[in-house]
Parts: sequence; structure tokens; C-alpha cells
Amino acid sequence: MDDLDESSPFASGTGPVESAYSPSPQADPRLISAAGRRGFFVTFEGIEGSGKTTQIGRLAERLLAGGEPVLTTREPGGSPLGRQLRAILLAEDTVPIGTTAELLLYVADRAQHLHDVIEPALAAGSHVLCDRFLEATLAYQGYARGIDLDFIRALHRRPPLDRRPDRTILLDIDPELGLARARRRNEDLAVRAAEGRFEQEDLDFHRRVRDGYLALAEAEPFRFRIVAAEGTAEEVEARIADLLSDVFPCLDDAVS
Ligand code: TMP
Repeated sequence: MDDLDESSPFASGTGPVESAYSPSPQADPRLISAAGRRGFFVTFEGIEGSGKTTQIGRLAERLLAGGEPVLTTREPGGSPLGRQLRAILLAEDTVPIGTTAELLLYVADRAQHLHDVIEPALAAGSHVLCDRFLEATLAYQGYARGIDLDFIRALHRRPPLDRRPDRTILLDIDPELGLARARRRNEDLAVRAAEGRFEQEDLDFHRRVRDGYLALAEAEPFRFRIVAAEGTAEEVEARIADLLSDVFPCLDDAVS
């Protein structure tokens, strides 16, 4: 069991939603029966505390109830190698990591994740809901840490790293609000020690991340959907369902 609780969509083997933590996405009978069409690849982005993880879980349950094969996963940490990289990247007391090394570790996580999990699932016909992807690297390592965006993009030009999401949901929230939410969630000291490195960055850092995300969304309006992340989980869920019902008609009836 990794560092997330049982209610997380990433907890292995705990619910009806297929998770990237299962040994083999191809082995799931729902994926095999859907083969013949490629799955739809949706990524979720946003600053800490924007509610991505909760919303991915809710969406996955609804899609599954509507008969759609779904796999939920995340970066960093969606593959066995990625879980080890996640521990190195996010622990509060981790070894010193320079900005270039940090970038390359996130990219290594992504390469393995695409190879092991995302591409096989899409090819088998499963939709993939991924908590963070390339845009997180552009926002955090690019806009917030100051690494050249063209350099980051250049690293993502060849297989397996040239995959782009079909749609990206950006959960937008004021950084002060988001950080307060994230800190409340991580009140448990063990969670903070294991994953709290980015929460220690100052507010300005998180503002740069948010502005970066908004700039990326503005540059690609066809792919991005910006969702206000304030309000109850139910309210945000309804907004997301509304913005995805063109692709997943089963979300139509459930929109409240
Ligand atoms: P999470 O808390 O949403 O699981 O994200 C883990 C942290 O990793 C979060 O603070 C953002 C950071 N991150 C990057 O800095 N670059 C990346 O490419 C990714 C995927 C995550």
C-alpha cells in the first residue's frame, strides 16, 4: 500500500475503478471488450489543493456506471519506477535536487508511465484519467522554476513522450485558498513528511504555477477546459461533467 488512503482512486484493488496500480491494465476484461477503438485521454491539472484527486475519483465512478472502461492514474508515481521517483521528488527531507535534475526525474517518470500504463490502456480501448501530465512540468518547472519552456517541450518530441492529452481539465483556484486546503488535507504529519516538499514553496511560487497554467490554457483553448474549483465537490463535479458530456454522453443525464 502506498501513501494514499483507501478512498483514493489510486488505492490498489479497492474499488470498481481500474487503477494504474493493478499489475496489468491489459488484463482487465472491460478493457479487452472495448478493444477496437482507442480510449480518450483526459488529464487533470491545477495547483495544490485544487481538488483534482477527488474529482478524478468521482468522474471515474460515473463513467464506469455509464459503461465506459476507465483507468485512473497519476504523475509522478503511476508506474513501479514512478512510485520510487515520487518518493525521491516529494519527500520533505529528500536529498538536494537541482532544477534540471528535478525536471529530468519528472520526465523519466512520464516516459515509464506512458510506456507501462497509459499507452497500453489507450490501445486496449480504456479511457485514461491522469492526475497531472506534461502541463504540470511546464507550469512548475517552466513557469515557476524558470526552466526554458522550449527545452521542456523539446524533451517531449519523441515517443513515448510525444503523446498529448485529448482534453485537459484545469481546476483553477486562488493559490491562498488551494494551499490552505492542501495543508488541511496534509495535517497528518506522516503525509506532510512524505509529500510536503512543494507546500513549503512560498505563495509567489504557487501564483507563478497558476499563471502558467492559465497561459497554457489560453494558448490551447480547443484542448483545455478551465473549471472554477471553488464550491463543494458536488458543484465542481457537475461543472466537469458538463464540460465532458460532448465526449461522454453518459454524463449528460447525471449533470445536476
Ligand atoms: P500531486 O500532489 O498533485 O500528486 O503532485 C505532486 C507534486 O509534483 C505537485 O506539487 C506538483 C509536482 N509536479 C511537478 O513539479 N512537475 C511535474 O511534472 C509533475 C507531474 C508534478
